[in-house]
Amino acid sequence: MQIESGVSLKPYNTFGLPAVAQTLVRVTCDADVRRVVDHPTLGRAPKFILGGGSNIILTRDMPQAVLKVEVQGKRLVDERADAWIVEAGAGENWHEFVMWTLAQGWPGLENLALIPGTVGAAPVQNIGAYGLELKDRFESLDVVDLVTGRGATLHAPICAFAYRDSVFKHSLAGRGVITRVRLRLPKAWIPVLGYLELERKRAETGIAHPTPQQVADWVCAIRRAKLPDPALLGNAGSFFKNPVVTPEQCRDIIGRDPAVVHYPMADGSVKLAAGWLIDACGWKGKAVGGAAVYEKQALVLVNRGGAIGSEVITLARAIQESVYGRFGIRLEPEPVIV
Ligand code: EPU
Repeated sequence: MQIESGVSLKPYNTFGLPAVAQTLVRVTCDADVRRVVDHPTLGRAPKFILGGGSNIILTRDMPQAVLKVEVQGKRLVDERADAWIVEAGAGENWHEFVMWTLAQGWPGLENLALIPGTVGAAPVQNIGAYGLELKDRFESLDVVDLVTGRGATLHAPICAFAYRDSVFKHSLAGRGVITRVRLRLPKAWIPVLGYLELERKRAETGIAHPTPQQVADWVCAIRRAKLPDPALLGNAGSFFKNPVVTPEQCRDIIGRDPAVVHYPMADGSVKLAAGWLIDACGWKGKAVGGAAVYEKQALVLVNRGGAIGSEVITLARAIQESVYGRFGIRLEPEPVIV
């Protein structure tokens, strides 16, 4: 366990927002978490768990002890008749882990390629893209309780995965440190190609039966074309969740705006494309200080340089008000606002 003080968090959040952690503790194994719990001052101090910093908006310096999870390691833990069970340390880079599984010949995560962040953060918001969510491949995870220091293995029902949501954003928020995640990759690989843009790639390339690597390449190409690379332009991915409305609400909006992009859900509700709603309100390219709405995808807010957290929040609130004013829909931020 390594304890540092007065650490700039700018390099540790993909939006590139300035904030200082009074105390930063690098956690590389379960025993490190227990050392924090048993530590005379850290043990009682409020704590903030930091993964890859790709889904947080920092609006202030951090008086809490920041635990930076750096648990490493990737391995096959079990081979069953029907699936490979693969494990990664919470501090591993998610995209590199996806590419590693493909290189080993264990496909199944290719639709989630290029998502920024760490393996440990993936279950917290149940990352998803192009028709697949983490929960679809989830086996279990290890967590160490920050009050008792006890370790536990949690399976899907306790994790309460939902759209960009899990128990780790609610009752277990800040309660435990996820140290390892295991995924179940079915041997009978069936590509998930239902998403419109993947279908388009299939048609364009004329490849009817792509390999897992080809699907990963398509996903990377689609993402690169629409989503800014955080290494070049700070951002936290989609800034708002796609709102879910009743069929009546949707019909009402279609009545006024026939072009609204919407997807009927299995339970009868309808998901609306928040990016379309924001775009329709004319927000592309608009800015508050260094924070701006990305020109190619209105759902993404970016750091044009020197943005501070309060500018991001001011811009986000203005967007929420304008979407509410026009469509009567309240957009909910996707990243965690700190
Ligand atoms: N659209 C516009 N204008 C815009 C942005 C989008 O008209 O400025 C329209 C698009 O043309 C499209 C629709 O809105 O018809 C949806 O856009 P897109 O397909 O790009 O997907 P999204 O709803 O914006 C979601 C996820 C992404 C994920 C993609 C692909 C959420 C909040 N976002 O984006 O996830 O990669 O689908 O599955 O669910 C993330 O969570 O950070 C993220 C990037």
